[in-house]
Amino acid sequence: MELKHLIIGLAIAFLSYIFVESRRPKAGVQEPPALRTRIPFIGHIIGIAIHGLRYFGKACEGSDEPIVTIDFLVSKVYLVNKSSAVAQVQRNAKVITFDPFLDSAAERMVNVSKRGLKLLTGKENGGGDLNRKIVKAMHPALLGPGLDVANRNMVNNLSKSVDELASFSGKSFDLYAWAKHAITIASTDAVWGPKNPIKDPENEAAFWDFDSHLRLLVFNIFPSIIARKAYLGREKVVSAFVRYYNEGGQHEASELAQARWRVQHEGGAATEDIARMETATVLGVVSNTTPSSFWMLYDVYSRPALLSQLRDEVREHALKKNESGEMTIDLAAMRDNCPNLLATFQEVLRTHSNSAPTRFVTDDVVLNEKFLLKKGRVLLMPGMNMNYEPSIWGDDSQKFDPTRFKKETLKQRPTSFMSFGASPSLCPGRHFASGEILGMAAMMILRYDITPASGKWTMPKFWKGAIAASMPFPAEPFNVTITPRVEFANTTWSYTSTDGKGKFPLITG
Ligand code: HEM
Ligand SMILES: *[C@@H]1O[C@H](CO)[C@@H](O)[C@H](O)[C@H]1NC(C)=O
Ligand SMILES: *[C@@H]1O[C@H](CO)[C@@H](O)[C@H](O)[C@H]1NC(C)=O
Ligand SMILES: *[C@@H]1O[C@H](CO)[C@@H](O)[C@H](O)[C@H]1NC(C)=O
Ligand SMILES: *[C@@H]1O[C@H](CO)[C@@H](O)[C@H](O)[C@H]1NC(C)=O
Ligand SMILES: *[C@@H]1O[C@H](CO)[C@@H](O)[C@H](O)[C@H]1NC(C)=O
Ligand SMILES: *[C@@H]1O[C@H](CO)[C@@H](O)[C@H](O)[C@H]1NC(C)=O
Repeated sequence: MELKHLIIGLAIAFLSYIFVESRRPKAGVQEPPALRTRIPFIGHIIGIAIHGLRYFGKACEGSDEPIVTIDFLVSKVYLVNKSSAVAQVQRNAKVITFDPFLDSAAERMVNVSKRGLKLLTGKENGGGDLNRKIVKAMHPALLGPGLDVANRNMVNNLSKSVDELASFSGKSFDLYAWAKHAITIASTDAVWGPKNPIKDPENEAAFWDFDSHLRLLVFNIFPSIIARKAYLGREKVVSAFVRYYNEGGQHEASELAQARWRVQHEGGAATEDIARMETATVLGVVSNTTPSSFWMLYDVYSRPALLSQLRDEVREHALKKNESGEMTIDLAAMRDNCPNLLATFQEVLRTHSNSAPTRFVTDDVVLNEKFLLKKGRVLLMPGMNMNYEPSIWGDDSQKFDPTRFKKETLKQRPTSFMSFGASPSLCPGRHFASGEILGMAAMMILRYDITPASGKWTMPKFWKGAIAASMPFPAEPFNVTITPRVEFANTTWSYTSTDGKGKFPLITG
């Protein structure tokens, strides 16, 4: 636990204690039962200071209610712990919604101007409704035809990074740092095009400073002092995006970047505010894909039998060799004909995710004729609860089972897989991310053997300062050595992707 987090937590608790309102429960329907802590009042705040986002999952251990209340004094938060309650929440999606979270992210994460915030907020609050329009505009670019182009650009760049690994042969290097750079460059180049500001190594580093220390920044209390790294990093990336727009970079970029610019520009947003929103979008584009790609490699390479099975599967079903002896990995074949690879990926997401899809209760509502949810409260659905629910996933739900997601072994279609969020605000980037992570894994598996520098695959500690991502990343370097495999010595590699086949059959919640 870092001392300054505790101090901030205590300050908030103390201030809110002065204003605390005690409400008498009405007879009959009541708010979900309160979750107790050993230390009254501030126990939950200390919990967050120690565990970060994982606390919301941990808090539920030992109680068996589908939904509970956590009292933070400033406000109460509802925690969902059963897929049955997720379904209830989804049934009331009109009043239990994600939208206000987008407004608050624009303000707290990237400091959009007052005027800009007004434009972003919903019509019902007298705003310009831009937030909703932006998310809508992103859908064709990530779920429709734009996906093919984005995928093609992304894999071309990714293959260069995998090629470069050969030059690391025999040296000890940090596998996470490598994956982070490879994914960051391939994703941001595919989205922001030839003038991509994140390509500049200084901006890339600034972005990761912003991402990794975001937890302090969102408190918004003297951020330039308390959250200096995140603050400086963010402001550097914002300036780079302002220059990018002034130079017309968006006009050469992906459909995604163009659509986001168009909606905001035509809606009257200032260039600086658009640049701020784009800085938050970099979080969406890389902050989850990066750790997911690392865990995919970790979970496969640390299991020799699985590694060899997936190697055979990819070699047999997704690898093509052309007349001049060049090797090509076909993303569409990987999607359609490599069920073990796809199932492994989803198990990686299930077991590592800290996702806690967030909703705001915009009006009093009663769930299941039993639980009163009050207007103004926040509701969280921690993936750590639903992703492990024994009635859905079986009694061995705590175990990593790479076959769990294979169609024939799933008894019922799980409705409680939270790693890509929960409908109706599911992650629209899930297909783009899947192509990237699986493409990287498939090529790595065929071309390289990896040995941890310590000799053992020991799970690294997690970094807790990042809150944008729902996938945790290692807090320390994870050094490995790499050996190019003899089977494919002296071959040239590339990827192909087939138009219209960029969507993966993923389980979602
Ligand atoms: C493995 C990688 C990824 C994971 C695990 C992931 C996970 C998530 C989660 C948990 C949410 C929250 C949904 C909710 O609260 O219900 C989300 C939302 C979102 N993600 Fe992802 N994501 C990934 C990659 C991406 C990529 C590559 C992009 C963009 C190219 C992206 C764009 C978004 C956007 C725009 C939203 C907001 C959706 C909305 O407002 O309706 N994500 N993601
Ligand atoms: C959440 O559910 C798990 C099993 O699915 C159970 O062990 C735990 O006690 C539950 N917690 C709450 C708060 O209901
Ligand atoms: C946010 O931006 C405003 C200008 O719109 C500026 O005055 C303020 O200092 C900024 N605050 C933070 C915390 O960066
Ligand atoms: C791909 O990545 C390299 C760095 O590895 C970068 O210099 C290059 O501009 C990127 N973009 C394309 C389209 O190749
Ligand atoms: C880990 O890798 C980094 C390069 O990524 C290197 O500088 C460092 O010396 C390595 N550490 C060990 C203990 O091998
Ligand atoms: C083999 O594939 C590579 C990469 O896709 C391509 O550049 C090359 O022209 C192909 N050669 C033949 C003979 O088809
Ligand atoms: C690969 O090429 C190098 C030189 O180009 C050669 O020394 C080596 O024997 C080749 N390896 C194999 C397995 O063909």
